[in-house]
Amino acid sequence: MDSPDDAAVWRLDEERALVVTTDFFTPVVDDAYDYGAIAAANSLSDVYAMGGQPFLALNIAALPPSLPSAVLSEIIRGGAEKAREAGVVIAGGHTIQDQEPKFGLVVIGFVDPHKMLTKDGARVGDRLVLTKPLGFGVTTTALKREQVAPEDLADAVAWMKKLNRSASVLAVESGLQGGTDITGYSLMGHAYEMAQASGVRLRFNYEKVPFIKGAHRYAQAGAFPGGAWDNQAYYGSSVHFKMNLDEADRMLLFDPQTSGGLLLAVPPEKLAAFFELAEKLEQPVWEIGQVEVGAGIEIV
Ligand code: CO
Ligand code: CO
Repeated sequence: MDSPDDAAVWRLDEERALVVTTDFFTPVVDDAYDYGAIAAANSLSDVYAMGGQPFLALNIAALPPSLPSAVLSEIIRGGAEKAREAGVVIAGGHTIQDQEPKFGLVVIGFVDPHKMLTKDGARVGDRLVLTKPLGFGVTTTALKREQVAPEDLADAVAWMKKLNRSASVLAVESGLQGGTDITGYSLMGHAYEMAQASGVRLRFNYEKVPFIKGAHRYAQAGAFPGGAWDNQAYYGSSVHFKMNLDEADRMLLFDPQTSGGLLLAVPPEKLAAFFELAEKLEQPVWEIGQVEVGAGIEIV
């Protein structure tokens, strides 16, 4: 409990530790199947963020009694098919009644304790690499406000459904030690946790940070979810902007992500092999900054 890692880890022997995590949330999209798949990908992500392989899961669902059973089974099917893609067995679960739907998984995985990714594994000189673009929070908020373009929503949904499995394999095979996944606390919040845990400063090059198409437009329209303002209130004082950015562009860095990508610290001598393997695994990667001496976050 003393370090803010993505999942609980329990060492079994020299080579194996259990990784245990859970996550669930209210619908981020209207399509029941996609909601189930996104919730499952998101729940599995914390095991991947620690360099582990998930193998067993349980469903957790809270659903309104008025919900048609066809919708319920689509949510469960979306989760089950995503779990199967990950090689994970859903061995059961529990459902209760609630006015607002909630769905997610409890996930158990294995990790080799010597090859674990943790938030305290970033070292001065490491390059910072992100494995999914940002902007899912503003895009799904634009959906709730009925302002979203269908192709922008489809783009966000495809990214949110994407497992962080190949990103995790890439990190472990590359011998990395520092990593986490980007979820509700936004790039800034999760980066800050990493900076704190590792005793370093993370510096990001704004122009290199990838955003999905439409993110800037929805940000300009003010479609930020409440969590973005919470993140800014909580982490804002640790983030130093060394360049001119308008409010909307700044706020995008605090945009909460659902099933976001991994933020990885890559030692410079491992960078070339890392990019080579990323291409082989067809895993998108964006180099967006580096680790420096200091504390907090700098945006240049
Ligand atoms: Co996490
Ligand atoms: Co989590």
